[in-house]
Amino acid sequence: MIRERPILRVLAAPILALSLVACGGPSTPTPAPAAARVPDAWPFPLEAGEAATAERGMVATDAPLATEVGVDILRAGGNAVDAAVATAFALAVVYPEAGNVGGGGFLVARMADGTSAALDFREKAPLAATADMFLDESGQLTEGSITGHLASGVPGAVAGLWSAHQRFGRLRWEDLLAPAIRLAEEGFAVNERFAGSVAGERDRLARFPASAELFLPGGEPLREGATWRNPELAAVLRRVAERGPDGFYRGETADLIVAEMRRGGGLITHEDLAAYRAEWREPVEFDYRGYRVASMPPPSSGGITLALIANILEGYDLDALGWHTPETLHLTAEAMRRAFADRNHFLGDPDFVDIPRAMLVSDDYAARQRATISTSRATPSDHVEPGLGATSGTGSDEEGDHTTHFSVVDGEGNAVALTTTVNFLYGSAVTVTGAGFVLNDEMDDFTSKPGEPNAYGLVQGRANAIEPGKRMLSAMTPTIVTGRDGRVLLVTGARGGPRIITATWQVLSNVVDHGMTVDEAVRAPRVHHQHLPDILFYEEHGLLAAEIAALESQGHRVEPRGGIGNAPALLRTDALWTGVPDPRSGGLAAGH
Ligand code: DON
Repeated sequence: MIRERPILRVLAAPILALSLVACGGPSTPTPAPAAARVPDAWPFPLEAGEAATAERGMVATDAPLATEVGVDILRAGGNAVDAAVATAFALAVVYPEAGNVGGGGFLVARMADGTSAALDFREKAPLAATADMFLDESGQLTEGSITGHLASGVPGAVAGLWSAHQRFGRLRWEDLLAPAIRLAEEGFAVNERFAGSVAGERDRLARFPASAELFLPGGEPLREGATWRNPELAAVLRRVAERGPDGFYRGETADLIVAEMRRGGGLITHEDLAAYRAEWREPVEFDYRGYRVASMPPPSSGGITLALIANILEGYDLDALGWHTPETLHLTAEAMRRAFADRNHFLGDPDFVDIPRAMLVSDDYAARQRATISTSRATPSDHVEPGLGATSGTGSDEEGDHTTHFSVVDGEGNAVALTTTVNFLYGSAVTVTGAGFVLNDEMDDFTSKPGEPNAYGLVQGRANAIEPGKRMLSAMTPTIVTGRDGRVLLVTGARGGPRIITATWQVLSNVVDHGMTVDEAVRAPRVHHQHLPDILFYEEHGLLAAEIAALESQGHRVEPRGGIGNAPALLRTDALWTGVPDPRSGGLAAGH
């Protein structure tokens, strides 16, 4: 194990001195080191971490077998995009709870020549979708957006990976699918995590015969150690290898998807599939204390919400205030609260709604937001107006692990952050009969009923209402931070529903503001606020009692919850890359 301080602190010092706009707090004594603020009961002590290092390229994912595929592609001369494509297809096989061909996602790339790019392969509402399709006769929300055939948007993953490869890839497309096909055909040993997730979703999977056959052989969940093969998925991947997107969106795979929809009353048609396209979008780019951050624009809310949080907090000297001091936690909560109010109100599919993007990410807007923040009192969320900050004075849900983020760098200076999902664990729980993959339940990310929380407790507005052909708003936040030397410094992102954004922010801030190693930055306990419910969540055992008491005395409602995101990350430390999976979920960082 090699642990080292990043060179960042050295780089950051002059930048910090120049860039602090306004210090929010009174001058404080030097705060205690971060480790002293981590409760003894926290399961991932900062000093106990394990990071991998590599001189050339690295991959960090939630699934060791997928990481190995990515590293093999780098060794074979592939660039970061090649490795990302192969890794994503491998995840579809070895990590079917989240990796997928039946879902979608987002990719942010930063290439050695300075190009930044953002690829949207988010699912789209089928053309037959309607705004009230998940309301019953009395106007109440149904379960249909979460489980079953109606819950699925038109999958985007295959089109997205193809577009990424077309623009930036170097190796042959079919060579990038070969490892995934081999894993699906020859099988692999079911690990504890896979067995556990199937067992946890047993009841939902049992409702659909093809899912039961695949994941509950003989009526029992897959057992740890068993060899699991998926020849039907191998056949799908082979068609994709041979024919590109047409191997999925047309022909036999499309026929199987449409037949499954007809079987279960779903909406996706041949027309929907043939019309699907991934879209290159302008990345959200902003400066944070002299670093350049590139992240995902709408239809993901990730980049804009991250920028809103960062721009507000850049006005405070978080380094001097200290990591996880009550002052820093309070300001962080206030920034998150305001950022999510704007997110939930303004953001949606940019092809359908006008988003005041430039205003939202402007320094001027951040200054106006800051002016509404009291350094000593929480602002109640119902006093926070989207677009205006606060009008005056001074929500919890269950989370599983249903999305997956991974980070890749190569030896040439290219980097990819990619987050992909089927939304819930095993998506809609519907496996396409004869095709060996689950379909997403991404329709739940739309606003099914304005003002009512969705499964993540997000209370969203009309900008994200269901419309035919529209992409549902996401929180996925694949993010790449570039240093002042123009070289990629940090590649991260997360899974965890709306907590994706706040987890990504905290990894970034832990490195940039608090000088943590990437290992510490990822292991450190996190907090989360999303405007509504008006609760500052913290990871169980992650806050000291004194901090909780201080926050409560400022008017925050503070509650523990399970993990806040999972964020595999890579950081350049001098000449080396250091990589970590998130210990909350396991996984593997490896390189060469
Ligand atoms: O796109 C989104 O924001 C959600 N569908 C992501 C879901 C997720 O991260 C689930 N994992 N806990």
